[in-house]
Amino acid sequence: MTESTAKITAETIRAMKGQAPVAALTVYDYAMAKLVDRCDVPLMLVGDSLGMVVLGFPDTTGVTMEDMLHHTRAAARAEPKALLAVDLPAGSYETPDSAVANARRLVDAGAEAVKAEGGLVIDEQVRAIVGAGIPFLGHLGMLPQQVKREGGYKIKGRQSDEAAALRGDANALVDAGAFAIVLELVEPAVSAELTAALPVPTIGIGSGPNCDGQILVTTDLWATSPDYIPKHVQPNEAVRTEMERAIMDWKEGMSN
Ligand code: KIV
Repeated sequence: MTESTAKITAETIRAMKGQAPVAALTVYDYAMAKLVDRCDVPLMLVGDSLGMVVLGFPDTTGVTMEDMLHHTRAAARAEPKALLAVDLPAGSYETPDSAVANARRLVDAGAEAVKAEGGLVIDEQVRAIVGAGIPFLGHLGMLPQQVKREGGYKIKGRQSDEAAALRGDANALVDAGAFAIVLELVEPAVSAELTAALPVPTIGIGSGPNCDGQILVTTDLWATSPDYIPKHVQPNEAVRTEMERAIMDWKEGMSN
């Protein structure tokens, strides 16, 4: 842990390209945001993964704007040095107008940037969000909000048409003004190629080591995600074990 106090902005993250690795973690409430911020992680995401690891949904598709607003307010109360980005949930950015209106609601709740899934198909929405002065974080590759349509969490970019689509999507996001792009479950050779080609940081999750940064669902790192931990994560089992031991020790030593 360091004593750094400077506020991180979307520009800070963009400028880290080629200078320093971008570490990013999800946070879902005040306590998590305080803890992660003490570790000087420059980018925090109130991810819609909260649907699975906090709210008990089977995937992220049932997460609502109200859910995201509630957890954004909680995380924002920590007033982190980190940039606090927040997911626009499924169905909240179908049109440029709804994308901007919902992005503004998240900003009013404390978001400093918003993320949405997709490339060319949301080009107008991204342009509208950036045009409204709201920093935008892209998300390409496996798109969890499309998991039902895609039939599972599958690696993207293995086929040449998929790799070509990823290139087109990434360039569209950069042209629309994204300050960084999350690459989820992208074939490592393709994520390495995108990282070398793009002027903004790529932030990988299950996309190999050659991205400009990495993001994880924090409860996967802690091995406390209740139902499932993806294969690409090496969880720190000691965290969950210690939490369970603390509870057992307390239970056994209870005097009243
Ligand atoms: O919702 C989420 O947690 C994400 C991941 C990329 C970390 O979008």
